[in-house]
Amino acid sequence: MSDELRQAVQAVLPSVRNDLDALIRIPSVSADPDARAEVRQSADLTAALLRNTGAVDVEIIDDVEGSQPAVVGHYPAPDGMPSVLLYAHHDVQPAGDAAQWTSPPFEPTERDGRLYARGSSDDKAGIAVHLAALRAFDGAPPVGVTVFVEGEEEVGSPKLGDFLAKHRDKLVADVIVLADSDNIEIGTPSITTSLRGIAACIVEVRALKHGVHSGTYGGAAPDALTALCRLLATLHDDKGEVAVEGLATAPAPGFEYPEKRFRDEAAMLDGVALLGVGSIAERTWAKPAASVLALDATPVADASNTLIPTARAKVSLRLAPGDDAYRARATLAEHLRNHAPWGVQVTVSDSDVGNPYAIDATGPAFDAARSAYRAAYGKDVVEMGGGGTIPFVAQFADAFPAAAILVVSAGADPDCRAHGTDESLHLDEFERACLAETLLLAELARRPDAKKSP
Ligand code: BES
Ligand code: MN
Ligand code: MN
Repeated sequence: MSDELRQAVQAVLPSVRNDLDALIRIPSVSADPDARAEVRQSADLTAALLRNTGAVDVEIIDDVEGSQPAVVGHYPAPDGMPSVLLYAHHDVQPAGDAAQWTSPPFEPTERDGRLYARGSSDDKAGIAVHLAALRAFDGAPPVGVTVFVEGEEEVGSPKLGDFLAKHRDKLVADVIVLADSDNIEIGTPSITTSLRGIAACIVEVRALKHGVHSGTYGGAAPDALTALCRLLATLHDDKGEVAVEGLATAPAPGFEYPEKRFRDEAAMLDGVALLGVGSIAERTWAKPAASVLALDATPVADASNTLIPTARAKVSLRLAPGDDAYRARATLAEHLRNHAPWGVQVTVSDSDVGNPYAIDATGPAFDAARSAYRAAYGKDVVEMGGGGTIPFVAQFADAFPAAAILVVSAGADPDCRAHGTDESLHLDEFERACLAETLLLAELARRPDAKKSP
């Protein structure tokens, strides 16, 4: 059985790779209001690919006010079989400065066994892995399957709540597989059992009614950028621990993540210190983080000798499993309003919010996954945490409390540079992910106890 499936996966890989390339060529940047047509186009292509892979009732769902188009398709469950929801997202992060890329960001380019492009690993590979598994069964998987491909994950899934309120019944499943995390290293199948949440704010500081001569007034009148810097400096204590009060910390994971490896993967320069205290896994998976992601102020090239009247920054917290993202965002806003120096005026507005989630990886679906992923990779599965956020996970868990939530990699690894320049997908790892998901569907069909609903 497993040998036959291996061959079946090998046979479908060329078509899947072709479709992955086509998906990548569409710059479906959900954060860019000028890319609405491209996000729509990637939904259209995803829907067409599902249709030609045997899905029925394929729909592009765009009837939720202000949302980006999602795609849903179905493979009805054979009698008595569990149903599985396969999740991915077809939107991507902005490419940033294209000139910084070695090859154009939306032109899939293979070099040394990796496929370079925005979205190659995050998360168009996720769509491709699902297509591979479904095609390996010739469009007739042995369990029920619903494919759900979201179009606004990279902007924090702002309309997901409304979406679930309206379309929850279309996503009912016993097991959900999210192909949107990383493997801990190439060749090691990994199940992500916790995800951090996110809470971000935009803070604006106003010090002066307008810019004034820095010589005439400097020394007594404050500039907004210095005030903002002092405010941002209150986010951490001297050890680099987050100093915003009242955020949750989760139990420290017993996971050995070598510091040297972390420094390399995080691209830290020599001599730069780690922030905070505790093991690397604890700091990145189980504790909050605070970062300043962006700043609006006068660019250096335009500098005149003027005190800057107003300045703005985007501040983002990552939240430990167990925290509440809405409460944390209010706490952050409060912190920013309360810590501005020198009486400058502060306005804080809300930005991204997504709840963290911790998964109890026990039960038949997880056993099936451990067995299928071990067979595909030839190596035992490890359980890891994730520092990133998938807002869908907590919301889905809320809507379907009995479902097993499997968060895996579609080939993404610590070197994939998701969100960065030169994002890439390790192609051998991608093939293993395709095989693993195929074997998982077969394995779930052998375990009717994975079925929760009647
Ligand atoms: N695939 C990532 C999330 C992720 C990354 C999970 C690494 C586990 C390990 C996802 O596409 C993502 O980037 N999510 C955003 C969500 C945000 C916009 C609310 C994130 O984490 O920044
Ligand atoms: Mn993703
Ligand atoms: Mn992402």
